[in-house]
Amino acid sequence: MTGVSLQFPITPNTDSHLSAVNWDNLPFGKIFSDHMFVMEYADGAWQQGEILPFGPIAMHPAMSAIHYGQSIFEGMKAYRNNHNEVVLFRPELNARRFSESAARMCMPEIPEELFLAAVKQLVAQDAGWVTNKPGYALYIRPFMFATDEFVGIKPSDTYKFVIITSPVGAYYAEPVRVKIEEFYTRAAVGGVGRAKAAGNYGASLYPAKQAQQEGFHQLVWTDAKTHTFIEESGTMNIMFVINNTLITPSEDADTILRGTTKRTVLEVAASFGIPIEERPVTVAEIIEAAKNGTLQDVFGAGTAATIAPIAIIGYRDEKLTLPALETREISLKIKDFLDGLKSGALPDTQHWIQKVC
Ligand code: COI
Repeated sequence: MTGVSLQFPITPNTDSHLSAVNWDNLPFGKIFSDHMFVMEYADGAWQQGEILPFGPIAMHPAMSAIHYGQSIFEGMKAYRNNHNEVVLFRPELNARRFSESAARMCMPEIPEELFLAAVKQLVAQDAGWVTNKPGYALYIRPFMFATDEFVGIKPSDTYKFVIITSPVGAYYAEPVRVKIEEFYTRAAVGGVGRAKAAGNYGASLYPAKQAQQEGFHQLVWTDAKTHTFIEESGTMNIMFVINNTLITPSEDADTILRGTTKRTVLEVAASFGIPIEERPVTVAEIIEAAKNGTLQDVFGAGTAATIAPIAIIGYRDEKLTLPALETREISLKIKDFLDGLKSGALPDTQHWIQKVC
């Protein structure tokens, strides 16, 4: 990082389209703010990053990322709180996970300080795009891809790190219907499931499409070897409440993404005195609990989806309807607490909030 300034030069966008945004009809991830952050890696080092008007990026047809998939990303959100401040929630966890993904994919790591400075300066530049409308946020998408112009296969010597932002509302417009997948696999032990690698998401599309044709939104992924242990759901971590205990698959295997929302949910639940189990979770025990009435809640946890209640679990030929949303005390209480922290209504005693401007 020698010689790289954390005060990034800015080329302002002189053609803002902020005033054209329809905040009452905001499709997830389709509208982008006025600026983006761009930084190149070359000669073994990150070069000076800059903030530019949002726009297309030129690409060589042999660019290695599009041939071999050296490409990773993160998902974060900026919020406008009740004090009219723009804040980030635990962004250091995203910076760390980004470096872990980079290491697994043979890509250069970005120092946490540099990652956070870039995110904060970009969000500050487009602070006008951060609404205080409840349930809305500015979604932040940092990503890195290999840019060598070379069709041979090897780790690229050059990369681009880009951050774009997008004002968003809810990711799921309704409670989620998921299907337990017993044939296709998201991640195998020794693979890249723990990394936020672009290819993990590309590979999930075909199996998810099959489930969508049967009326589900997403799949519940199971372990690659036996398909008897639950891992994740769609793009989210998955959490269950059985007999008032919050249960989620443990992360010991390298097949599960280490979710920042999931980690936060577990920490908040622990602070409320809710019993927690992070352990292997079998499909059989969840189906049994759903049938005998002890399964009180199932929800997904992710940055985009936040805490997304799951309404129906499909298992083989059955569709199991889960308890009514208003009875799901634990996830509702945790969600209220997190909303309170982000809006500034509750004091940030955990120091999870970082102010941008
Ligand atoms: C996120 O929750 O930020 C994700 O990465 C999900 C994304 C695929 C929309």
